[in-house]
Amino acid sequence: MRITVVGTGYVGLVTGTCFAETGNNVTCVDIDENKVKKLSSGQITIYEPGLEKLFERNLKEGRLHFTTGLAEGIKDAQVIFLALPTPPGADGAADLSFVLKVAEQLGNLMTDYKVIVDKSTVPVGTAEKVHAAILKNSKVEFDVVSNPEFLREGVAVDDFMKPDRVVIGTNSERARKVMGDLYAPFVRQGNPILYMDERSAELTKYAANSFLATKISFMNEVAVLCEKLGADVDMVRRGIGSDDRIGKRFLFPGIGYGGSCFPKDVQALVRSSEEVKYDFKILNAVMDVNEKQKVFLIPKIKAYFKDGLKGKRFALWGLAFKPNTDDIREAPALYIIEALVNEGATVCVFDPEAMPNVKQVVGDKIQYAKHQYDCLEGADALIIATEWSVFRTPDFDQINAILKNKVIFDGRNLFDVQRMQELGFYYESVGRAV
Ligand code: UGA
Repeated sequence: MRITVVGTGYVGLVTGTCFAETGNNVTCVDIDENKVKKLSSGQITIYEPGLEKLFERNLKEGRLHFTTGLAEGIKDAQVIFLALPTPPGADGAADLSFVLKVAEQLGNLMTDYKVIVDKSTVPVGTAEKVHAAILKNSKVEFDVVSNPEFLREGVAVDDFMKPDRVVIGTNSERARKVMGDLYAPFVRQGNPILYMDERSAELTKYAANSFLATKISFMNEVAVLCEKLGADVDMVRRGIGSDDRIGKRFLFPGIGYGGSCFPKDVQALVRSSEEVKYDFKILNAVMDVNEKQKVFLIPKIKAYFKDGLKGKRFALWGLAFKPNTDDIREAPALYIIEALVNEGATVCVFDPEAMPNVKQVVGDKIQYAKHQYDCLEGADALIIATEWSVFRTPDFDQINAILKNKVIFDGRNLFDVQRMQELGFYYESVGRAV
């Protein structure tokens, strides 16, 4: 099939590359000339494990093209994916201006039947708005489909190639057939393609992310309770997760969820609810809990250093909002840095991938270490904010030798509490004994 993907951000690039990998001819369109130049010359613009290999192969074999021209990009396309940004507007609702602007242009440019697919996470009713925007100028037949993506950063290629399910929202038989053919290679193992109306597909995406965020905030509250009641959240997590109805996944407490999806989507669903005069109480609580959780370690750190944090030095491991990505959007580490710096402390950080991005935002307010052990030099404590594998089995002798005090505040529960006690560390984590 001939496919066009408009927008070469995270979702667009993964979508385009993975469709090329199943033999489709894919053209990706982006207004950013610099990005298009880089991508066309074989330089990948995002960090995503496994993507680069597929990208290089499909580019070389001529199945993947990049252009800044929308007209040229969609000329032969049968399916046009819109993978454009939908940032939160001033009121927290998703801003659709990028999507609708392209939709209007498409109306002018299309010369034969096309299926236009909303891939971005968009509020309920967007497919209808996109339809209306195209219709303003269009002289040909077309269908608009809602096909939300469920990719996780860090494992996006796997998620795309082997999805748990594919959601296709359309009432058009013609579009349904095109989309079914396109996704058939991805569901060979029998995972379902779920066909539904556009509105249900749009809400499915928000409900999925909001439910997962709810699981996390729920566990973060259970963790607080564990500390107060003398229980161990690891035990409780296993105890409840073995029940199939609850499930083992997404029950890990920590210093809150971040990234470009959960915070934005939970907020957008709350705003959508408000628009129809519904108070989504649970989601308001989910957001509240997460705000507190991002700086959950700060009161613990303050309680330990009774003489204040002014002049203290902290080593911080992990900046990305989660491992295997350089993405720092809504990363809890940024909130921890801000709180520590505001208290007059010095912070030296290390992250395997995200340091350049943090440098752009935080600049020289903090120090950046070349190696994870370098930032321990002269530090009063080590703080852990992201569970990169490389932090899971560190050389404790080395930590011990370099850190000024044997003190670790772990926001991701990486180490066994008893072992840390045996090693002589003062070790605080989330929802477990000190
Ligand atoms: C999330 C969803 O998992 C994807 O299905 C969805 O497609 C994507 O958003 C999106 O809407 O585009 P992502 O943001 O990449 O994917 O990251 P996750 O792996 O889901 O993690 C989100 C956050 O939850 C991270 O900050 C992570 O540290 C936190 N988390 C996750 C926990 O605190 N505890 C857990 O048990 C699991």
